Amino acid sequence: MRKKIVAGNWKMNTNLQEGIKLAKAINEKLTTKNCDCGTTGVVIAPPFSHLYAINEVIDSDKICLTAQNCAAEEKGAYTGEISAEMLKSIGVKAVILGHSERRAYYGEISETLLKKVKLVQKNGMKPIFCCGEKLEEREAGNHFKIVENQIKEVLFELSAKDFENSIIAYEPVWAIGTGVTASAEQAQEIHAFIRKIVADKFGQELAEKKTILYGGSCKPSNAKELFAQKDIDGGLIGGASLKADDFFGIIEAI
Ligand code: 13P
Repeated sequence: MRKKIVAGNWKMNTNLQEGIKLAKAINEKLTTKNCDCGTTGVVIAPPFSHLYAINEVIDSDKICLTAQNCAAEEKGAYTGEISAEMLKSIGVKAVILGHSERRAYYGEISETLLKKVKLVQKNGMKPIFCCGEKLEEREAGNHFKIVENQIKEVLFELSAKDFENSIIAYEPVWAIGTGVTASAEQAQEIHAFIRKIVADKFGQELAEKKTILYGGSCKPSNAKELFAQKDIDGGLIGGASLKADDFFGIIEAI
């Protein structure tokens, strides 16, 4: 049985007071105790500035507290950076890495991401590794190759044991924040492809266990159809994770 996850990526939204309110509302709505970032789980990834305070108001057995990024270095003279160890020390359990916004606006490349993944795991947390193609790459028919390379250059550099301790999120760039969702068929097709390359690399058994999330304009109205696909194991939600009712609607869909 594969683990199902609904993860909310708040991006650079909410001030501290709004963030605490949102986290409390989500926490109150959840009745099932289901956080382990690897089993059926609810994940929220607020901004760095909110993590400590939010950890104080949520039940860690209901919600898995996650960060949106971390430094590629362990510690030292890296002004403005937040290390994996710092995140671990305030109760963070997982870290989103390789989001397309970080790749596009902050020049993150596979080499940096591999360092980050390793540091996250070294500190006992789980990387939620994002991959996905741009519109022009899909239109040119290159989406399979792009996604394969993104995964190969980072996650396939890990041992099977470390790879097992990761979550993959497929987020087509053209679907992020655009209101255009990949159709259930388009998403299923690439999720199945990802599972196949995982099977080729690490074997069928591990591939069957791997949680692969879909992200990109996922909302309560389309979540059910997406999550019904054989290889889609939940969602990484942006905009719709900022309203407790919408986020809860997506959780209910799973
Ligand atoms: P939206 O749900 O706003 O399209 O964002 C998806 C995303 O980027 C989650 O990481």
